[in-house]
Amino acid sequence: MKMTKKKVAIVGCGLVGSTTAFSLVTQGACDEVMMVDLNPERAIGEMRDLKDAIEYLGRNVKITSGTYADCGDIDIVVITAGAPPKKGQSRLDTLELSAKICKSIVGPIMESGFDGIFIVVSNPVDMMAHYVQKLSGLPKNQVIGTGTAIDSARLKDFIAQLVKVDPRSVYAYSMGEHGDSQMVPWSCVTIAGKPFFDVIADNKELVGDVDLEELVAKTAREGWEIYNRKGTTYYGIATACAGIIKAILNDENRIIPVSTLLTGEYGEKDVYAGVPVILNRSGASDVLEIHMTPRELARFKESCAVIREYTARITD
Ligand code: 2OP
Repeated sequence: MKMTKKKVAIVGCGLVGSTTAFSLVTQGACDEVMMVDLNPERAIGEMRDLKDAIEYLGRNVKITSGTYADCGDIDIVVITAGAPPKKGQSRLDTLELSAKICKSIVGPIMESGFDGIFIVVSNPVDMMAHYVQKLSGLPKNQVIGTGTAIDSARLKDFIAQLVKVDPRSVYAYSMGEHGDSQMVPWSCVTIAGKPFFDVIADNKELVGDVDLEELVAKTAREGWEIYNRKGTTYYGIATACAGIIKAILNDENRIIPVSTLLTGEYGEKDVYAGVPVILNRSGASDVLEIHMTPRELARFKESCAVIREYTARITD
């Protein structure tokens, strides 16, 4: 009788990678987590530290350390290794170095016989996800970028604060680039099914005049607001990554705005962008193509143009 184990490898044991591992372990989200890093001793250190948590957790998740060559039987490889932006840089400024790092990782992993799902966290994530998909030769459903999953969480929190509800009762997506050009299809935003525009119209005294453009800018800026105060971000992105992993491993058909290769949706082809995607055991199973207003669609296409421009700058 073949019992398949749910195995996740974390490549890059920095703060995002180790926090993603910690999130998976504390949630008991998989059967095994393998820590991988360019510095094997760091991977071993993270593995040994994580093992110390098992005694006080609800589930005995197996924690190991390994190398790219050990990824042959891994279900999901999370790539967090990348070039962090220097002060004053944007995520796009790290393109060249992050591409070099991804290239050094994907080849050896594919040589291990890996045929699972890549989840790319490394920034600039939309371009890196596309590059990993090209390098690996895997079908589009098996290479996913975290995309605007974290931006959407931030947007939902800001909206929730405005209308005084639980962020999980806000249905909203940030779409396009995980970066400054992202956009929000406000016509599709609801508060537990009630159109957002109706909620603000019915609650003028509570919300006052709502500046939608400022809400979008605030969402795009939030990563930097955190970065400027603590030097990086990791709890939000790591937990978003764990949520994506759970949706895949548990075959949930959960819809999360991740970065996927568009093949005609929204009139866009051959570009990775953050859109609502149905996630299940096959990875990025299908794009839920929402109906945007002409102006919203134009904004989304502008963001795709930014992603396409920077993706084209990656030279092999
Ligand atoms: C963020 O916005 C790491 O780019 C990621 O938090």
